Amino acid sequence: KTTALIMAGGKGERFWPRSRVNLPKQFLSLTGDGKTMIQLTVERISPLVKLEDVYIATNKNYKELVKKQLPGLPEENILCEPIGRNTAPCIGLGAVHVLDKAQKNGEDDAVMIVLPSDHLIKNNEVFADTFKEAVEIATKGENLVTVGITPNYPETGYGYIQYDESTTDGNGRKVARFVEKPDLETAKSYLAEGNYLWNSGMFVWKVSTIMDCFKSFMNSTYEGLLKIKDAIGTEREDEVLNVEFPNLESQSVDYGIMEKASSIFTLPGNFGWDDVGSWLAVGRIKDNDEKGNVVTGNVVTVNTENTVIEGKDKLIATVDLRDMVVVDTDDAILISTKENAGEIKQVLASLRESG
Ligand code: GDD
Ligand code: MG
Repeated sequence: KTTALIMAGGKGERFWPRSRVNLPKQFLSLTGDGKTMIQLTVERISPLVKLEDVYIATNKNYKELVKKQLPGLPEENILCEPIGRNTAPCIGLGAVHVLDKAQKNGEDDAVMIVLPSDHLIKNNEVFADTFKEAVEIATKGENLVTVGITPNYPETGYGYIQYDESTTDGNGRKVARFVEKPDLETAKSYLAEGNYLWNSGMFVWKVSTIMDCFKSFMNSTYEGLLKIKDAIGTEREDEVLNVEFPNLESQSVDYGIMEKASSIFTLPGNFGWDDVGSWLAVGRIKDNDEKGNVVTGNVVTVNTENTVIEGKDKLIATVDLRDMVVVDTDDAILISTKENAGEIKQVLASLRESG
């Protein structure tokens, strides 16, 4: 059986002021088609996974948002984390639920597709074909399969996959090395070498394979996960989760497992991928007008180029702007250069300090 775990616990700070602590990026519609990023993610995987086999891991505070945005999803498939412990515990929690359900149905294993909830994909058909093949490679052996993206600039916020050109399985290539978030010089050298892909953060493996990885590389997390698994479906379930989960090591799957594991395959993801990291990405993914502006709402521009302007009802007028981001919401306005729009994290930090 093929299942999917969608990771939806991110805070999405870089889309402030549209994203807020109580409404992060995965629950917003950034594409202009009215569907939120998490709804698009579920829709995209539907050719391969039935809705009853889709799990959403998120912070407990977002449970109601998930219920509202995904009304057909069984409520027990919303896995609520008492606090965020990064992606390794999130994946572990998904794994024990998938394993528990398989065992209760008399099966001893299942395939897990792990997807972030907040990435943009242009071609859903190529996406489904890619994951079909990824599922085959994962089913065949004790393999971790990751979907890789051809890099076009030395991004330091991504993981890099060095592949081995000689060992292939269909379109899959054996991974020689996985390096999470290298520094700029290292990233530049990877691009120059050529046989590197970006890690898309989308993975496929058998639940037995990932459990073995937890056992080998994150053993105390593994022990905690087994306790959580034992309590699933009992009256102690919430209590055990609330005690054990916060004690799991806060670690990403990339550092905690992918950098250490040996049997990794990568499949190229040629489906038009963007992780929509900041306002800069909106200028990239939405339709630009003839001056390169991306404009929503009631906006008048004069001599304005390559600028993202998001308004609501209030009229916004700009004169002589280039490469800027202007976002108006009911109670906050962002004005930033595109280049440094990612620095709004600093705004949020100082807002937190001043209470
Ligand atoms: N449920 C849950 N709980 N989800 C989480 C948590 C958590 O504690 N932390 C992060 N997530 C979700 C985010 O919402 C996002 O969808 C996904 O997991 C990845 O987390 P990020 O925080 O966005 O990771 P990253 O951008 O630093 O790096 C990852 O993604 C890159 C590509 O976008 C890595 O996998 C990199 O290797 C990769 O290149
Ligand atoms: Mg990310």
